[in-house]
Amino acid sequence: MEHKPSEPFSVALFCLLLLAPLVRSQLDYKFYDASCPNLTKLVRYGVWSAIANDTRIAASLLRLHFHDCFVNGCDGSLLLDDTSTFTGEKTALPNQNSVRGYEVIDTIKSNIEKACPNTVSCTDIVTLVARDAVYLSGGPYWELPLGRRDGTTAGSVSVVNQQLPSPFETLDNITSKFTSKGLDLKDVVVLSGAHTIGFAQCFTFKTRLFDFDGSGNPDPTLDASLLQSLRTVCPNQADSDSKLAPLDPVTSTRFDNSYFRNLLSKSGILQSDQALMGDNTSASMVINYSRFPYLFSRDFGASMVKMANIDVLTGQNGEIRKNCRVKN
Ligand code: HEM
Ligand SMILES: *[C@@H]1O[C@H](CO)[C@@H](O)[C@H](O)[C@H]1NC(C)=O
Ligand SMILES: *[C@@H]1O[C@H](CO)[C@@H](O)[C@H](O)[C@H]1NC(C)=O
Ligand SMILES: *[C@@H]1O[C@H](CO)[C@@H](O)[C@H](O)[C@H]1NC(C)=O
Ligand SMILES: *[C@@H]1O[C@H](CO)[C@@H](O)[C@H](O)[C@H]1NC(C)=O
Ligand SMILES: *[C@@H]1O[C@H](CO)[C@@H](O)[C@H](O)[C@H]1NC(C)=O
Repeated sequence: MEHKPSEPFSVALFCLLLLAPLVRSQLDYKFYDASCPNLTKLVRYGVWSAIANDTRIAASLLRLHFHDCFVNGCDGSLLLDDTSTFTGEKTALPNQNSVRGYEVIDTIKSNIEKACPNTVSCTDIVTLVARDAVYLSGGPYWELPLGRRDGTTAGSVSVVNQQLPSPFETLDNITSKFTSKGLDLKDVVVLSGAHTIGFAQCFTFKTRLFDFDGSGNPDPTLDASLLQSLRTVCPNQADSDSKLAPLDPVTSTRFDNSYFRNLLSKSGILQSDQALMGDNTSASMVINYSRFPYLFSRDFGASMVKMANIDVLTGQNGEIRKNCRVKN
C-alpha cells in the first residue's frame, strides 16, 4: 500500500527545507564552507605566527578555550572586557594575570573580518585556535563542528570562582565540576593531559614544597629530586609567587603523553595533577595513557569536541561579535 504524507505535513516540510540554510540551529562541520572558505587557513596562520613569536602561547590559547567553555558555556564571554557597570570573567582570580592570548584572538579576528565581515563568531575562532595550538605543538588533530555564536554578557566573578576547577580541590570536587558540565571522570583525566604543555605560577603549587596541609613537611606524593628543583624556582617567600615552572618538566613545549608518564614517577606539578594517581579508576586511565600515546591522542580529541559543545549558542541566539572584547 502506498503511503502519502498528508498535505499540511508536506507544506511544513517544504517550509523547513526553505528555511534550513537561513537559520541553522545546530553545529555543522561545513558551517562556514560557503561564507568564509579561507577560515581554517586564516586561523592556522594566526596560531602559527603567534607560536613562532612565543612558544608558550600554544598552551595559553588552549587554556583560554577551556576557561571560556566552563563558565557560561563556550560563548566567547571570557573575551569580554569589564564595563563601567560589570566586572566579568577576565577579572576573576583564576583568569586575571593568568589567562593569556587575548591579543592573538584579536589579531586573528581582525584578519577574518577583512576576509568575511560579520560572519565568524569569536567563540568559533577560540575553538579552532585551541585545536590548532595543540596540532602545531605536535599533538592530535580533530574535526570540529562549527556555528557557535557569541554571548552578550560575561559570567560574574563569583560564577567563575564556583565553576572553574582549582588546583587545591580534591579529585571528587573537580570531577563534580566536570559532571555538572556534562563531562565525566575520563574527560577529567584525558583533558588534564593538556598540562603536557605550558607553565604554572609558583603560588598554584607552592604549598606542596614546604608545609603541605600543615604537616611541616613537603607533599609525600612529590618526587624528591623534582621537589629540590621546584624549591629553587619557587623559594619559600611571597615574591616567588608569580615565577613560572613548566607543567611538564620533560617536554614542556611538545604536546605528547609525557604528562601521564610523569604522574607515574610522582612528577605532577599541581596537587590536582598528582591526585589522578590517588584513585584506582583514574590511576588506571593514567597508566593506559602513559603506555599508549595513540589512545591519548584519540581520546583527547574526542573530549575536546565534547568540551567545545558545552552550552553553545546557535541559530538566532547570541550574536556574531564585531570586536571580541565588547558586545555589539
Ligand atoms: C582538571 C582541572 C584543572 C585544574 C585544577 C587546572 C589548573 C591549572 C592551573 C592552576 C594552571 C596554572 C595557571 C597559572 O599559573 O597562572 C593551569 C595551566 C594550564 N592549564 Fe589547567 N587545569 C585544569 C584543567 C585543564 C584543562 C581541561 C585544560 C585544557 C584542555 C587545561 C589547560 C592548561 C594549560 C595548557 C595550562 C598552561 C597555560 C599557560 O602556560 O599559559 N587545564 N591549569
Ligand atoms: C582565499 O585565499 C586565497 C589565497 O590564499 C585568495 O586568492 C582568495 O581570494 C581567498 N578567498 C576568499 C574568498 O577570501
Ligand atoms: C610576542 O610575544 C610577546 C610575549 O608573549 C608579546 O608580548 C608580543 O606582543 C608578541 N608579539 C607579537 C608581534 O605578537
Ligand atoms: C569540596 O566540595 C565541598 C562541597 O562543596 C566543600 O565543602 C569542600 O570544602 C571541597 N573540598 C575542597 C578540598 O575543595
Ligand atoms: C585500589 O587498589 C588498591 C591496591 O591495588 C586496593 O587495595 C584497594 O582496595 C582499591 N580500592 C578500591 C576502591 O577499589
Ligand atoms: C586500560 O586498558 C586496559 C587494556 O587495554 C583495559 O582493559 C582497561 O579497561 C583500561 N582501563 C581504563 C580505566 O580505561
